[in-house]
Amino acid sequence: MVDYIVNGGKRLNGEISVYGAKNCALALLGASVLTDDEIILRNCPSIVDVDNMILLLKSIGKTVLRSGSVVRISGGLTTTRIPKNIASLLRGSALILGGAVAKYNEIELPLPGGCAIGARPMDIHLQGLESLGVEVSCTDVVRCNGKPKGASYKLRFASVGATENLVCACVMAKGESFLYNCATEPEVVALEEMLVKMGAKINGVGTPDLQIVGVEKLRGVEFDIIPDRIVAATYLSAAAAAGGNVDVLNCCPKHMDAFLNLLHTRFKVRVFENAIRISSSGQPNDYGKIITAPYPFFPTDMQSLALSLAACSNGGQTVIYEKLFENRLRHNSEELCRMGANIVVEGDKAVIKGRNLNGATVCSRDLRGGAGLVIAALNAEGQSVIKGIQHIDRGYYRLADCLKDLGADIDEK
Ligand code: EPU
Repeated sequence: MVDYIVNGGKRLNGEISVYGAKNCALALLGASVLTDDEIILRNCPSIVDVDNMILLLKSIGKTVLRSGSVVRISGGLTTTRIPKNIASLLRGSALILGGAVAKYNEIELPLPGGCAIGARPMDIHLQGLESLGVEVSCTDVVRCNGKPKGASYKLRFASVGATENLVCACVMAKGESFLYNCATEPEVVALEEMLVKMGAKINGVGTPDLQIVGVEKLRGVEFDIIPDRIVAATYLSAAAAAGGNVDVLNCCPKHMDAFLNLLHTRFKVRVFENAIRISSSGQPNDYGKIITAPYPFFPTDMQSLALSLAACSNGGQTVIYEKLFENRLRHNSEELCRMGANIVVEGDKAVIKGRNLNGATVCSRDLRGGAGLVIAALNAEGQSVIKGIQHIDRGYYRLADCLKDLGADIDEK
């Protein structure tokens, strides 16, 4: 197994481009089962989770062709039973449920895999489908049967995945549906926009309350995957922690307000339409209080980045509350403490007192946590070894090479 070897203290300079968002790509690939026509996705990232989602689509009969960042998906399903060995590869496999039940009126999905960031129940997905009249059973396999019928459903929490599944179920349901308290993350909005281009009838795109009139058929589409806001935030955090001047290109700053507000208070940040420039002395400061919550508030996916910046800050205290995934704070805090960080975790709250970090051997236990450890290692004095980088590869395209291009001393060994 390969590790990252990072020698901290090297400043980062130059330009770096952001690729398409993993979580957008997964939702759009999942929704591709809604039509047999060709869907062409541009700006599709070359990362392990997307490769696995493509594998899943192929395993149930879709034809998927990839040429660089363009992915073409066509044809119908030959089976509605998803193989267990493929479903377990990624959490995103759950995003097949809504579309498959809408078009094929049945689907069997062994419980999905994914990062060990918390319990990750599926009750909202399944209860929402039941409210649409779908018969649902869930043991170690989720089985859904029956054509969705228009209904009203209020999500008890604005879950990203449940919103995506329910929207996909409603666009080809019989009749009219009302979904309340939907997630409004940019990746969810992109899915809604793609479905409208395919002929779906959705009122309220981008808002928490949607009115959807089911149609009988959806057509093919060409669609651009939105830039990955978490990757953009990772590059910005790397520059913030290491110091230097970095331009992050091909990103969408308007999707990143909560994170940029945090950076603005501590670094010189200039925001352009599709780019962000950061200048940092490499000595971050404390950040006050950060609370994770659904969009447009501070994203849980950027919490690990903020935790590392707070841990290596120049004194001062930061308090972070992780309200979505219970393990995310604890795992990374333990690892950062190996680098000398002063973090006390109690339940969903971490109190971080900034201090100088030193290199250590640490282990990435989830995707974003792994990126957070890389950020801390770029700031730390001396050498760090980051294990478990297979988690990082699930969502980042060659993170080490990208940072190396900016001047980081990071290698895979
Ligand atoms: N939840 C439930 N029941 C459900 C669904 C969710 O209780 O039926 C809870 C979860 O346990 C969690 C909260 O609701 O506490 C939010 O979960 P959500 O459903 O919004 O997350 P998700 O759809 O499983 C997506 C992203 C995650 C990202 C979250 C939050 C994909 C494939 N994954 O997950 O991305 O952290 O939304 O924004 O879109 C990542 O990229 O590393 C990642 C984990």
